Amino acid sequence: MKDIFNIEDYNIKLWERNTFKDCAPLRDGYTYFGGKRGEYIPRISMLFPESRFKVMLDGFMGSGVVSANFNYSGVSRNAIEYNRGTYTLNKCIQDNPAKMIQVINSIEPTLEFFNSSKEFLEYIDSLSVDNFKKGKGFDRFEVARAKYATLVLSLNSKGETFKRQVVSDKYTDPIERIRLQYALDKRTENIYLKAPKIIYDCYEGWKGLNIINGSFFDNLDFLYHKENFCFIDPPYLFSKRGIYDNRKKDTGYATDVRDKEHIEFLHDLADRIKSGKEIGKIMLCSNFEIDENGNLLDLQDDYYNQILLPCGFRMVVVMDKRACEAGKDGKKKRKVEVVYINYDDIRDYWHNYRYFDYKDIYKD
Ligand SMILES: C[S@@+](CC[C@H](N)C(=O)[O-])C[C@H]1O[C@@H](n2cnc3c(N)ncnc32)[C@H](O)[C@@H]1O
Repeated sequence: MKDIFNIEDYNIKLWERNTFKDCAPLRDGYTYFGGKRGEYIPRISMLFPESRFKVMLDGFMGSGVVSANFNYSGVSRNAIEYNRGTYTLNKCIQDNPAKMIQVINSIEPTLEFFNSSKEFLEYIDSLSVDNFKKGKGFDRFEVARAKYATLVLSLNSKGETFKRQVVSDKYTDPIERIRLQYALDKRTENIYLKAPKIIYDCYEGWKGLNIINGSFFDNLDFLYHKENFCFIDPPYLFSKRGIYDNRKKDTGYATDVRDKEHIEFLHDLADRIKSGKEIGKIMLCSNFEIDENGNLLDLQDDYYNQILLPCGFRMVVVMDKRACEAGKDGKKKRKVEVVYINYDDIRDYWHNYRYFDYKDIYKD
């Protein structure tokens, strides 16, 4: 029987199609704020290094959908996630997917269940590192369930605010109410119906994956070996999150990266490269706002461009972003997802891409 999970075959199929329209990733992850889903996965797969690498790092694992789709044989794979709830959920899926599906089935789509899950996760975050590691006084599958519940029952899959499961009274038109209630019911139904496939997809894709609970910034050694390939998808700089300025406090992850930390990391990376020290192959994610003609905006002022392009990184446009955020005027901003890479040997042909080197932006 043909192995449908053979990633190499899958990549060849993508190559033959020569288009990414309607292209789904081989394995889908669970719903996650900032998760890289859909077309994004096959697109970045063609920008991965063509030459073999020995070690791969998924530096900000999140839902782990990237790691799940790149299960190369003979590559030692690692993923780092700092948030305790997300880390525990991923470890439980990896260790016992059947039990994980069972506990998901006991999630109740109610505000009470959502709130108690949130409180439980706050309690887990308040534990000392030692007690968390030892698993003292809690059942880790309960932590995993609480995390999954807050993700699937929240607005934007952020785990912060409960997504009401009944249509609000402000909708008075009966037809509209039926339509909205149907969508909400489907959403609830999906918690249970979709979970087995999602969980087993992750489980398959994470076989042999070393999942680390810690900060990416404490594990930078992964970047410093030329045979390593590091995919880095941090919470974006605040200016890239694009929600109303006065709501910025709401735009974060439960475990976030401050701009200062972010920019220090970029400078350290650039200094290392400029001083000729060994460095692996790196793919770093970001985004840009675009105008109505598709031109990328504010290229010269961008921190990533300023710091990374002078030391040999290339910025490559991956795709139009589907989830557009509203600007101050309430209008949706159009964006593109981009990656910064420091190698030339991608799997595809360069002429298929829109990309920018230092000279393209800073001509003088
Ligand atoms: C943009 S999301 C990653 C999304 C992921 N690529 C996916 O497709 O689901 C960023 C993730 O980084 C985690 N995180 C925040 N600070 C971190 C740190 N210092 N080290 C590692 N992970 C961190 C957040 O909890 C979040 O899960």
